[in-house]
Amino acid sequence: MGTATKTKPQNTVTLTDNATGKTIELPVLDGTLGPRVIDVRKLYAETGMFTYDPGFTSTASCDSAVTFIDGDKGLLMHRGYMIKDLAEKSDFLEVCYLLLHGDLPNKKQKKEFVNTITIHTMVHEQMLSFFRGFRRDSHPMAVMVATVGALAAFYHDSLDIEDPKQREIAAHRMIAKVPTIAAMAYKYHVGQPFVYPRNDLSFSENFLHMTFSVPAEEYKVSPVLAKAMDRIFILHADHEQNASTSTVRLAGSSQANPFACIAAGIASLWGPAHGGANEAVLKMLAEIGDKKNIPEFIKRAKNKDDGFRLMGFGHRVYKNYDPRAEIMRKTCKEVLGELGIKDDPLLDIAMELEKIALQDPYFIEKKLYPNVDFYSGIILKAIGFPTSMFTVLFAVARTVGWVSQWKEMIEEPTHKIGRPRQLYVGQTERPFIPIEKRK
Ligand code: CMC
Repeated sequence: MGTATKTKPQNTVTLTDNATGKTIELPVLDGTLGPRVIDVRKLYAETGMFTYDPGFTSTASCDSAVTFIDGDKGLLMHRGYMIKDLAEKSDFLEVCYLLLHGDLPNKKQKKEFVNTITIHTMVHEQMLSFFRGFRRDSHPMAVMVATVGALAAFYHDSLDIEDPKQREIAAHRMIAKVPTIAAMAYKYHVGQPFVYPRNDLSFSENFLHMTFSVPAEEYKVSPVLAKAMDRIFILHADHEQNASTSTVRLAGSSQANPFACIAAGIASLWGPAHGGANEAVLKMLAEIGDKKNIPEFIKRAKNKDDGFRLMGFGHRVYKNYDPRAEIMRKTCKEVLGELGIKDDPLLDIAMELEKIALQDPYFIEKKLYPNVDFYSGIILKAIGFPTSMFTVLFAVARTVGWVSQWKEMIEEPTHKIGRPRQLYVGQTERPFIPIEKRK
């Protein structure tokens, strides 16, 4: 097949097969923002050919009205609202409502929504026994994948995806219960008793309370830390069709129950190229150990044969500063100030690394800027989370994004099971040789 060329009228492209001279006209679709897309849905039927795009670098897998990113400008919007405005002027539950319903809530809607989420925060008591089956040294993400998936075994009355009410209840349950499960994963990990949610606290205060309080003494939630936690949740709430969200959509496209789909998303998030990067950043900063070692690590990151990458740098979509990283950088300073941490050696290394990398021609040419995970790990460590919990916190925040995108897909009347094609490069047909005759 030859090249795709724009033709008149502007809303089609013509594809020419240079081998046969055959042409096919393909519609071009316009979104409200972002690149136009060539609609290839009829391509196979009309040409017998597939498109080839491993890693989906040029493929829109769905249409969505939830989140928009302009990677070149470093811009992120949820339902048309800039992330900076949401992070500075809103709160996490309001952003949850926005993502789920499409508009910001009015006062009454917000009150009702906050109340609904709050009254769903407890988990079935039997879940506690389920937790106790894990080894104490299990990675909390392993516990998350299993326990969130297990919600389907506890909440049978919200599994029918055809029923809008059940879909809504499942969405509320996940937004409310995933933080409780995350805090339980932490408590189990450190060998402390589980702490039940408190409905008089805000979402983020309650999360810190369930995570850090112990029955033996009173725990006062710091408003600065609660605000920082809330902001971290907002910044991670959704990010359009990333690996974990696409995983949730693909799992959901088979009409699997919502809890199973979100568990699939958590599994995908775990990897260091995705949500696992915040944990990997801290490990890397600790490995660098001293500012004087930075040039050596920069050299390694540039060496193709080394395989080492600067964690917290680069993004598939952002070819500019990740807008979330800028807000995270500011929040980082606020948190360290509140905790009275004046000289954090890891922060010093991070600042220096960022400065050097942003001046280095390799990073400039490849447009590798700090991403959201570059600073979040430093904040989370300062708040008191072990590195193994970092990706768990990402999952707590992203649950609403996954649920909103899943809901959007299910509510799309023409949705189909996701089923990518392939370019087969394996053996062609060959005769079966009985085992006695094989060499
Ligand atoms: N350090 C050094 N080189 C890099 C880095 C890095 N962090 N990231 C990309 N490159 C190079 C890469 O070697 C490649 O070079 P070349 O063109 O010469 O082959 C070029 O930049 C493009 O990289 P890519 O891997 O083709 O780009 P991608 O879009 O497939 O990968 C990424 C995006 C985020 C996986 C990658 O930048 C990366 O591995 N970054 C480090 C991990 C990280 O911080 N991940 C968190 C992402 S933000 C949170 C989230 O959304 O989950």
